Formats: sequence, C-alpha cells, structure tokens
Amino acid sequence: MTKLGVLASGRGSNFQSIIDAIGSGGLDAEIACLITDNDEAYAIERAKQHGIPHVYINPSGFETKDVFYRSIADELKFCDVELVVLAGFMRVVKKPLIDAFPMRIMNIHPALLPSFKGLHAQRQALEYGVKIAGCTVHFVDEGVDTGPIILQEAVPVFSDDTEESLSERILEYEHQIYPRAIKLYTEGRLMVTGNRVIVAD
Ligand code: GAR
Repeated sequence: MTKLGVLASGRGSNFQSIIDAIGSGGLDAEIACLITDNDEAYAIERAKQHGIPHVYINPSGFETKDVFYRSIADELKFCDVELVVLAGFMRVVKKPLIDAFPMRIMNIHPALLPSFKGLHAQRQALEYGVKIAGCTVHFVDEGVDTGPIILQEAVPVFSDDTEESLSERILEYEHQIYPRAIKLYTEGRLMVTGNRVIVAD
C-alpha cells in the first residue's frame, strides 16, 4: 500500500477528498502523516478526526528555507512516505525536499497550467477574462507550478462569477482529480518523459 505524506497550510478540503477516497475503498493508500506550516490550519482538525499523525513545523524556527525543507524531508522519510502530496501548501517547495522525493511530489493548482501560476489563480483567470478555467495536478519540480502535468480538468467561467464562486466551482473538480491522480500513481501508471507524463492504460 502506498504511503502518502500530505503537506497543507489551511482548510484542507483537498486533504479531506483524499481521506474520503481512501475511506470509500477507491484509493489503495495510507496517509502516513500530515505536515503543516501553520498551527491553526483546519487540516489539523481533519487529521485528528481521522487518527492521522500530524506535525506542525514552524517555518520561522529555521535559519534558512533549505534547512526548513530538509527538516520536512526528514520527517517524511521518518514516516516512510513514498509520495508527497501538496494540498493547499502555500509555499514554494525548495531543492532539499525535491531532491529527497524526485518526481514523487504532487501539487494541485486551481488553474489550467501553464496559465495563472502562483497565488490567486482564480482571481487571475477572472481578471484576464478567460471563459474556461480549471485545475491541474502536476509533479513538482524546482519552478513555480511548472512540473510535468498529470491531470487537468476544464471548468466554465460564468459572467456573474466572483472569485469565490469560481473558486468553489473549481474546487469541486479539484476534489475529483486529485484522488484520481494519486490513484494512477499507486497503480504504477504514471511515466514521466521530459516534461510529459504518460498515463498507461
Ligand atoms: C485549493 O484551491 C488549491 O488548489 C489551492 O489552494 C486551495 C487549497 O484549498 N492551491 C494553490 O493555490 C497552490 N498554489 P484546501 O486547503 O481546501 O485544499
């Protein structure tokens, strides 16, 4: 069974979607630990409710970002994690963590990458005026939202959308594609060649 380590900074609804997929038998994985960079993250409550070990690692307790990410990598290794899942982890992951889990860190982003990287992707989409927004699950590399794309889902933008209504609509799709992408990984069906991810039948 694939052991997952989830990193989250806030609400944790994507974390919940993974918990639920495992609970319903749709995903053959185990969440070995939740790591947060925020001791008030609601994700911690979710971990408690489901008996998932959770650790808060205070980013300001480290001299450099590299040391912070080394400490996260150490914790994940200690928990025997195979796949790292960023679920609303609002930081740019640095080399020590990426090198410890090459092509074994996934992220979900609320836009159709490579459009609207970085923060407030849904607001960026509205301000740009696109008619189709969406979400992307990708492997994490050293860039910001640049790694090989695993799955994407298109989501319509309506003329009366606000940032909140669009975010909510996109989120429904996030909750579907993230467990699906993790499932593909656990089934050994993802092959990375260059910047492409080939999904085996
Ligand atoms: C989600 O919409 C996720 O795609 C986004 O933050 C939200 C977290 O919600 N992530 C990013 O913007 C990363 N750049 P959640 O805490 O309820 O899963």
